Amino acid sequence: MAPLLGDIAPNFQAETTHGPIDFHEFISGSWCCLFSHPADFTPVCTTELARVSQLLPEFAKRNVKCIALSCDDVDSHNAWVADISAYGEGTPMGSSGEGFPIIGDADRKVALLYGMIPTDAPVVGGQAATVRSVFVIGDDKKIKMTLTYPASTGRSFDEILRVIDSLQLTMYHKVGTPVDWKTGGDCVVLPSVKDDDAKSLFPKGFKAKELPSGKHYLRMTPQPDV
Ligand code: BEZ
Repeated sequence: MAPLLGDIAPNFQAETTHGPIDFHEFISGSWCCLFSHPADFTPVCTTELARVSQLLPEFAKRNVKCIALSCDDVDSHNAWVADISAYGEGTPMGSSGEGFPIIGDADRKVALLYGMIPTDAPVVGGQAATVRSVFVIGDDKKIKMTLTYPASTGRSFDEILRVIDSLQLTMYHKVGTPVDWKTGGDCVVLPSVKDDDAKSLFPKGFKAKELPSGKHYLRMTPQPDV
C-alpha cells in the first residue's frame, strides 16, 4: 500500500545514476520530490524528466531535492539520460552529479514499497510497470502530498511547485490556499482561527464573504509575508 499523508517516507537503499544512496540520508535537511515513471526510453517520461531538469533551480529555491524512479537498471538509465538531456536542449542530467538522480529499480523493490504499481498498471516488457506517482516529502521526512497519474498522461511539474509553495506557506501561517491560488494570491483564514485572533494574526486584515447560509466561514486575507 502506498504511504499516506503524514507517514514517514519509507527508507530504502538503492543504486542511482548519481551512485548508491540511503534515501533518508539523501533527503536529510531538505524537502524531496520523489516521482516514478513506467520505463526508460518512453516518450512521455522523457519529456517529464527534461522538464524537471529545467525546473531544478525552482525546486532548489524551495529547498527541494528531486529524485526519479524507473523500473530499469542504472546502466539503462545512464544510456537514457543523453536522450533526456537532448530533448531538454542541454539540460544537465548526467551521471557525474549534475541534474538529479534516477533510481535503478529493476527488481521493483522501491516501487512496491511506495505502492507505485496499481491494479491496472501498464505492462512494459512483459511486467507490470510503475505509473506516474509523486511524493512530496517535508524536511521532517513526512509525506506531504501524493499524486498518481496514469502512464499516458504527463504531469505538470509547475503544479507540483505550486503545491510545494502552498505547503510551505501553510506550515508557518494559519491559512489555506483557495482554488487556483498562486504565490502572492489571497489566502483563506483557517476555520480554527477565531475572528478576534485573526485580527492579530493577520495584520493586513481579512474579510468574510457574505454567503446565503449566513455562515461566517469564508474569510480571505492577503498572503502573509513568507
Ligand atoms: C510513455 O512514457 O510515453 C508511456 C509509458 C508507458 C505507457 C504509456 C506511455
